[in-house]
Amino acid sequence: MRAMAWIFGYGSLVWRPAFPAVERVPAALAGWTRRLWQGSPDHRGVPGAPGRVATLVPAADARVHGVASRVEPNALDDILSALDIREQAGYARHDLPVRLRDGRRVEALVYVATADNTDWLGPATAEAIAAHVAGSHGPSGSNAEYVRRLHTALAELGHPDPHIAAVVAALDAADSPARPTTGDNR
Ligand code: SIN
Repeated sequence: MRAMAWIFGYGSLVWRPAFPAVERVPAALAGWTRRLWQGSPDHRGVPGAPGRVATLVPAADARVHGVASRVEPNALDDILSALDIREQAGYARHDLPVRLRDGRRVEALVYVATADNTDWLGPATAEAIAAHVAGSHGPSGSNAEYVRRLHTALAELGHPDPHIAAVVAALDAADSPARPTTGDNR
């Protein structure tokens, strides 16, 4: 059994961890960046019409911000069994070094979906991602809710993510009514 058990979340695990923790601490993971490149056929979409959810991709000079949760070592197996089901569409557990906001450095479990999984969607422009997100819904709710809640949670941490912010801006632009015309030609 691990003496210390940490789980680092960077997507829905930031704003809806849904597992008990002894402490939750803002944290950062160097060498990775967050992208809405993973398909979700089970939470924010359905099989055949998956939504787009967050994963991490390697990026040498980048740093991804999220939340690290320390769990009771003897609760870890049950927590991971539940998370393995929640993250079953393409994600695998990785052990990665995370730096906590208070300066501690810990090894954390991180769920990452890599390009070789069958639900992978890959890169697209912010506008294309927003159009996809706007039309996707699944058992956990709308895909737009996922992206907007993640954006808000990261802003509250003090680390808004430019990729997520660009998709939210494109969602907002698509939501806003067309600019009114004057109604005459004078
Ligand atoms: C995570 O939040 O760390 C994994 C991806 C997700 O569940 O959105």
